[in-house]
Amino acid sequence: MSTSHPITVHWRQEGRVITHDVREGDTILRSFELQGDPLPFSCRNGCCTACAVRVLEGTIDQREALGLSKDLRAKGYGLLCVARATGPLVVETQDEDEVYELQFGRHFGRGRVRQGLPLDEE
Ligand code: FES
Repeated sequence: MSTSHPITVHWRQEGRVITHDVREGDTILRSFELQGDPLPFSCRNGCCTACAVRVLEGTIDQREALGLSKDLRAKGYGLLCVARATGPLVVETQDEDEVYELQFGRHFGRGRVRQGLPLDEE
């Protein structure tokens, strides 16, 4: 008999709070889909941040979250498309732009860039 963990998602865009049992080792996004709740996604490879969430309780499996910086992982953000159930977890969805902005915003929007460096870092 396989172990399952209760995973709760505060789906902010839909105004819903959903809990499903997810089998140990299964990806959370896929398991929710199979149980009738297709959460936001795009690439399914841990690269685009469309499925980004912030952890409210528990620990999220980050091994395959290539699209998130170490900094954002340390701040409790995770990617549900590649996060596998390892224990009880409560998360809330983020706006795709919110995580994108946190991760890349400081690199863009600082004016002109030459040879990959902002001008004020030359
Ligand atoms: S769907 Fe792209 S990072 Fe999860």
